[in-house]
Amino acid sequence: RVKTAQLYQNAEAFSGKAITVCGWVRSVRDSKTLGFIDLNDGSCFKGLQVVFEADKVDNFAEIAKFNVGSAVCVTGQLLLTPQARQPFEVHASSVRLEGASTPEYPLQKKRHSVEYLRTIAHLRPRTNLFSAAFRVRSAAAYGIHRFFQERGFVYVNTPLITASDAEGAGEMFRVTTLDQTNPPRTPDGKIDFSKDFFGTPASLTVSGQLEAECMAMAFGQVYTFGPTFRAEKSYTQRHAAEFWMIEPEIAFADLEDVMQLAEAMMKYVIRYVMDTCPQDLDFCNKFVDKGLLDRLQNVLDHDFAHVSYTDAVELLKKNNDHFDYKVEWGCDLQTEHERYLTEKVFQRPVFVTDYPAGIKAFYMRANPDGKTVAAVDLLVPGIGEIIGGSQREERLDVLQEKMQELGMNEKEYWWYLDLRRYGSACHGGFGLGFERLIMYLTGIQNIRDVLPFPRTPGSAEF
Ligand code: 4AD
Ligand code: MG
Repeated sequence: RVKTAQLYQNAEAFSGKAITVCGWVRSVRDSKTLGFIDLNDGSCFKGLQVVFEADKVDNFAEIAKFNVGSAVCVTGQLLLTPQARQPFEVHASSVRLEGASTPEYPLQKKRHSVEYLRTIAHLRPRTNLFSAAFRVRSAAAYGIHRFFQERGFVYVNTPLITASDAEGAGEMFRVTTLDQTNPPRTPDGKIDFSKDFFGTPASLTVSGQLEAECMAMAFGQVYTFGPTFRAEKSYTQRHAAEFWMIEPEIAFADLEDVMQLAEAMMKYVIRYVMDTCPQDLDFCNKFVDKGLLDRLQNVLDHDFAHVSYTDAVELLKKNNDHFDYKVEWGCDLQTEHERYLTEKVFQRPVFVTDYPAGIKAFYMRANPDGKTVAAVDLLVPGIGEIIGGSQREERLDVLQEKMQELGMNEKEYWWYLDLRRYGSACHGGFGLGFERLIMYLTGIQNIRDVLPFPRTPGSAEF
């Protein structure tokens, strides 16, 4: 019993031998005594051509009538066919139907739109595009773990349910067991969370960063890789309500170290996926984004660009005619600005650093200029922001002052402040949006198409 991927890795080893392959029928063609099945077992992008002949199998007529989507197991001899389009084929001695499909099977052999395929998220992994996307997703995840593990980072798991809003943006999904229609109330009429499951308001995490900082202050270098949740009502192609984030955190490190780590990680994972998923990327390069492979190779061959937020704003202001949303020092950069910088100005990935304090999270380290913080975003062509990170404020008094200024309740963050009381150290890290990475690696334009079961406003069916 073999997988198609093994055959592509080393067909010679199986040449002339009897093998069994199980998978799903993509198509069946037949003439009176000879037929072909295009069989796909999902182990690699390519399918397997099965040849069946009336005098070699005992159910020729039945096989010829198999519907697209049927699950079948084929036993036969592998023959190398170097002169044909596919490098080998299986000559069947037996083709057994495991589970039939019907003529109503929604994935017939034709091109379906991604919009249609989103409505059948349970079946779309069986298509070329989505099988490529999800295999790349799997390889990229493994590549990321390898990158950090090879460098001695400790993989840490941070809680998904938490009381603290790590980003301070108020975009959290509340988790509660209270009766929503008639919650218990305190004498002054507020919802009484002391009666709730956790005894305090709790939500799904927007970032594991604050807990990752705790772990970095013990292990020196750590990373998280897990799901995060944001209740932002952003109906864009790059926002999902549930997405995965990789958050490395390093101690005794400054913003420069954070950027070096981010660049090394991006290059490593791009190279890893190019090496391990060539068939998937070839398909994406042909049918999704024609410049994909050149662009990825280009990323490997060059250093990332660097620009300060202040200089970036000067560059953008000169081109304010291009933008729906005009740029001004102090404003948050919109996707149109990010893409202009990385696609038109720098034409490669660019680190934008030192953003105004007012548009960034409370934990970022204040710069000596009193106006900006040691923040960094990595912008890439086709997407815009793919990474957000910073050096963290390690000075207790400065951090407390900042929290007061923002009206944050210090008591809720006592443990976070303790890190600054007991052996505080210069440290920093970043968050890589995993789905945006997969979009970047495949050229796929919509985040809904790199998540197997996307969660976006108004959509949680599958
Ligand atoms: O820039 P963000 O909000 O940064 C943080 O959460 C920090 N705590 C990270 C850190 O320093 N440890 O998010 C980081 C990245 C973004 O650059 C983006 O790629 C992705 O997470 N991201 C989203 N991806 C999909 N859907 C959303 N709604 C996203 N929000 C952020
Ligand atoms: Mg960000």
